[in-house]
Amino acid sequence: MPNAARKNPIDSFKLTSPCLKKQGFFFIGYFMVGLGFRKDFAEEFLEKNFPTPDFIELAPENWIGMGGYWKKILDRAADRFKIFTHGLSLSIGSPDPLDIPYIRKIKKFLDDYQITLYSEHLSYSQCDNAHLYDLLPIPFTEDAVRHIVPRIKTVQDILERPLILENVSYYTPVAAEIPEHEFITAIIRESGCCMLLDVNNVFVNAFNHGYDAHEFILKLPLDKVAYIHIAGHEKVSDDLIIDTHGQDVIPPVYELLDYTLKFIKPVPVLLERDFNIPELDELDNELQMIRNIYSKHFSKAEIC
Ligand SMILES: [Fe+2]
Repeated sequence: MPNAARKNPIDSFKLTSPCLKKQGFFFIGYFMVGLGFRKDFAEEFLEKNFPTPDFIELAPENWIGMGGYWKKILDRAADRFKIFTHGLSLSIGSPDPLDIPYIRKIKKFLDDYQITLYSEHLSYSQCDNAHLYDLLPIPFTEDAVRHIVPRIKTVQDILERPLILENVSYYTPVAAEIPEHEFITAIIRESGCCMLLDVNNVFVNAFNHGYDAHEFILKLPLDKVAYIHIAGHEKVSDDLIIDTHGQDVIPPVYELLDYTLKFIKPVPVLLERDFNIPELDELDNELQMIRNIYSKHFSKAEIC
């Protein structure tokens, strides 16, 4: 058990997001720019104590049940950093029943490490009991909204935490009856959960499906945004880019973050880098880019 977990009560942090505040969750401290914590660089990152993000984010599925070496790494990380989580397997949009034992395992992990922020994807990854090993988009329909809203409430009840759901990237047309922004907004507002706004996913979808990323952002429920992701992507042809998390963030995506921050309260921003991971110096440069943008909009006093 990490020291931080032994010392602190579970809800002992103050969050600036109005969405989480309403639900009684707060961050205490200065949690502004974070880094996805990956096993590829975990040991070097902890040994060098560099870079120094304000928080780290990890996928609980990649750490639950780990013993030995990886448990020690996780405990060292938890002693040093506030941990946020970003799950991969909830499959909130699946036609299959929710996997309640899995959600209970997530809760235990969150409790053990005193983690308040749990985010997931507005997608599905399981169908007919088969794991599809991908985050697939949900058809933008009223039926899907009615299906998902009570599932979100169930998850929040079990976790005893707000669920924070991310807009995902998608590449094939989904059977849309309503616009994507209306679909996202209906789910977030009717369920009472919060939103993780991934600005790179907006950029990728806007490029691939031919809409304006800035206009799309303004149509989202921005008062419900509790967390932001930013990442790199790969352009594979003149009319297709793929959300790989394997490249540096490009200037237009930084610009989209800058634009987004004009319209929301200060919330944490996370740099996702899952593949083709560069030297830690380069990750630090990207964190600094995000900090510079963040600092244009928010002072430290506003955040704490
Ligand atoms: Fe993301």
